Amino acid sequence: MAQRQRARQREVQNVEDDDMGQRQRVRQREVQRVEEDERQEEEIVQAADTTTNITIAAAEAVETSFMPLQKLEAEGFHANDLKKLAAQGYCTVEAVAYATRKEIFAVQGIGDKKCENLIAAAHKLIPMGFKPATEIQQKRADVILIETGSRELNRLLGGGIETGSLTEIFGEFRTGKTQLCHTLAVTCQLPIDCGGAEGKVIWFDTEGTFRPERLVAIAEARNLNSEQCLENVAYVRVHNTDHQMSLLIAARTMMAEGRYALVIVDSIINHYRTDFSGRGELAPRQAHLGKFLKSLATIASEFGVAVVMTNHVVATPDAGAGPYAGDSKKPCGGHILAHASTTRLYFKKGKGTNRVCKIYDSPCLPEGEADFAISNMGIVDAEKENKR
Ligand SMILES: Nc1ncnc2c1ncn2[C@@H]1O[C@H](COP(=O)(O)OP(=O)(O)OP(=O)(O)O)[C@@H](O)[C@H]1O
Ligand SMILES: [Mg+2]
Repeated sequence: MAQRQRARQREVQNVEDDDMGQRQRVRQREVQRVEEDERQEEEIVQAADTTTNITIAAAEAVETSFMPLQKLEAEGFHANDLKKLAAQGYCTVEAVAYATRKEIFAVQGIGDKKCENLIAAAHKLIPMGFKPATEIQQKRADVILIETGSRELNRLLGGGIETGSLTEIFGEFRTGKTQLCHTLAVTCQLPIDCGGAEGKVIWFDTEGTFRPERLVAIAEARNLNSEQCLENVAYVRVHNTDHQMSLLIAARTMMAEGRYALVIVDSIINHYRTDFSGRGELAPRQAHLGKFLKSLATIASEFGVAVVMTNHVVATPDAGAGPYAGDSKKPCGGHILAHASTTRLYFKKGKGTNRVCKIYDSPCLPEGEADFAISNMGIVDAEKENKR
């Protein structure tokens, strides 16, 4: 009897010992797991510390390409009148100088006489007459080009996307237009000697395809501080063509106060295709688009920013068929957009992730094509085995 009791006691003891051992082992494993997590976190923090900070100088700290509107105060204009002008997007002396009398007269509180005087004073400060071509040549040599992420595409573009002018990218869906915009939004923040323009970005999104996670991936691939990179992109979702136009006032105010290098409009045409329908509304549509494009061109020369706008294509049934048929796609927006764009790039689908960029129109680049690819790092060089 006593023997059986002792045997049972030993059994209970063994089970208790096993339980204890198991609990200890579980606790040990937990401690190990927590330590491992902490070590990994430390590694991530250390890795984050090695990312390069993005430094964009404050507007006051750099020589700006424009003259602040306050300069007109010295010409005898009241600060209140200048405030009225600034509220309508005329935030620089250049904006007043480049505007028509009709436009300045439309600003509430600016009478006929004051309008004449303002424009005369602005013209006195901003030289608008003839200049020797040598001066223009010097200015052209100083133009900053924003690198695209692909060496071959950069070469085709003479270095990259030009600041101070309008670049249009058109092509079918999924040809990489928005991906290039995402890449440029990161590269334009880089120092000038690294292919950037040391400036911030304004992003007009008419299609809802902006993805901050793409910016993060592209910035991280370049070892840049992705949080700072996102901070430097001012994003707006555009809901219609009137909203698109009115946002330009806010954009101009921001550009007069900060250092911006790139304005993206993705896409320029989306709302025009739906807000105006049929042939009957073609004339008001083109007038509205023309006004928007004129403002973009003024912004480009006023602030020296690169304006990149994407555009859709439409099929042209008159392109013919058979082996001699031409490309049956043409960009939307008609002649108004064709004449407003300084450089027009046509994106086409290539093999696999490869895409083709064709110079469709440029005042200085010869016709030509370049291959590039879309990757998680944004626009990159084309994959060799997929090349045409
Ligand atoms: N993270 C990523 N890594 C690799 N490829 C990607 C990534 N994100 C998107 N893509 C590819 O990019 C292509 C879409 O490109 P994008 O959005 O620039 O097209 P788009 O020309 O702007 O088209 P749409 O006219 O429809 O706006 C798709 O082929 C998609 O697979
Ligand atoms: Mg797109």
